[in-house]
Order: sequence, then structure tokens, then C-alpha cells
Amino acid sequence: MIDIHTHILPNCDDGSPDVNTSVEKIRSMVEEGVTDIVLTPHFMRKLYHNTADVIDERFDLLQKAVKENGIEITLHKGAEVYLDYNIVDDIKNEKFYINDTKYVLVETGMNGFPVNFLQILYDIVRNGFRPILAHPERYQDISENPYQVEDLIFRNVYMQINAGSLLGHYGSKIQETAWILLNNGFVHFVASDDHCQSEDYSLSKAFFEIKNNLDSSLAELLIRKNPQKLLNNEKIDYIYMETVPPPPPSFWDKLRKIFK
Ligand SMILES: [Fe+2]
Repeated sequence: MIDIHTHILPNCDDGSPDVNTSVEKIRSMVEEGVTDIVLTPHFMRKLYHNTADVIDERFDLLQKAVKENGIEITLHKGAEVYLDYNIVDDIKNEKFYINDTKYVLVETGMNGFPVNFLQILYDIVRNGFRPILAHPERYQDISENPYQVEDLIFRNVYMQINAGSLLGHYGSKIQETAWILLNNGFVHFVASDDHCQSEDYSLSKAFFEIKNNLDSSLAELLIRKNPQKLLNNEKIDYIYMETVPPPPPSFWDKLRKIFK
């Protein structure tokens, strides 16, 4: 599994407070089956001013600690960029795109979109980037009308929902919204948004829930295939249709085949 949204880079936002916490978190994620982690500290101009220098320094520190602890994981640089006026300049100057690709993880106000929300997103797209909206299910505007996400997808914005939302850790309304988005093919990625706190961010549990409630090919697409394409800077389909895999042959099917 590939986790494209985490706050595990130490001491730079409301996520991991120190390197040891980060290392232990990464160790538990590896045990769960995570092979790649994108480190996406918040970038909010007035609150978390994580510039490229800060991210580079913390990244090298964590990379070194992970190696010293003999943990097999591939770490990638990124950021979670708060949508603000002229944010494209910051994205370009501070290299906020994920892993040197064109993909940029973005977030906005939980209690109401800014008036120029669509304009800011369009500016990002026009400049050749591929915005991924973090946890759409958690925004009040979307939980009140989940179907408006389709309009954003037609505007070349990808959707990443949180594992914890599917599992109900942000409450029933957000859980319901996350499943509506998933059931309508409005989701491109599922990630943990792990803040190293007491919540359950488990990607493997989310994988299992999607497999049980929908099917395994969709779980594969959202937690393995699309994240891998992102890391390779390959284009991901905005509109997709996953085929439900046929059920495995039963005992009688196998027997019939033998005597055919
Ligand atoms: Fe986040």
C-alpha cells in the first residue's frame, strides 16, 4: 500500500512532535503493509510556514533515522497546501508538488469554501499542476451536498478521502459522505492523513472495508494503483469505471470443468 497523505515529518506541524515518534509510526505502518509514504506537512502561510528548506532538513533527518533503525520503507517529499490567493507562486517556489511530479495535495476551509475557491483551483490547473483535494468528505460544503464533487472532478481536481472517514472516526456524517463519494466513483485516492495521534488511521482496515462493501479491484485502484501512478507522474483518469472481478470458481464449477 502507498500512503500519499501523512503528517509524520517531525516537528513541523500538528503531526509528529519528534523523530522517535515518526520512526515508531513508520515501523507500525510497514507492519501493516505500507511500502511508500508521502510526507505532506501542512503549508499555511500564517500558521505552518514549512518552506522547502524546512522540509528538506526534516526529511533528511527522518530518512537517516529510518535507515539506522533498519526499516524498509520508501519516503517521498510533498506538502498539504492550504488554498490561498496566488498560491501557485508558493507551489512553484517551494516545490510543494509530490515527489517531483505535477501532483499537488491541497486543502481548504472546513467550515466554508473561500469565495474564490474555484478560481484558485483553476489557476493551479492552468499552470500545469494536478491538484488533489484532501479529504473532501470533511468539508461542510461537500458533506451538505456530496454530488457537487463531480463538478470539481470535471474541473480536473482529484479527490483523496481519509481512511479514518470510512471507518467512522470523524463522526457519522463524514463517514456517510465518504461512502457516498466512494459509491459514486468520485474518489481517486484513499490515504491515512496520519497525525501520529490516538485516532485510527489504518489504511489496511480501509482497504478491507472497501473490499468487503464494494470490491477488491476498487481498493487496489485507490490504495495501490493510482498512488503508484502518481509517484510515477503518470496521468490518472478523472472519470473511471472499475469492473467488479468475477467470483472465484466454486468446487462444482471446477468439477464440471474436469468432466467436460
Ligand atoms: Fe492532512
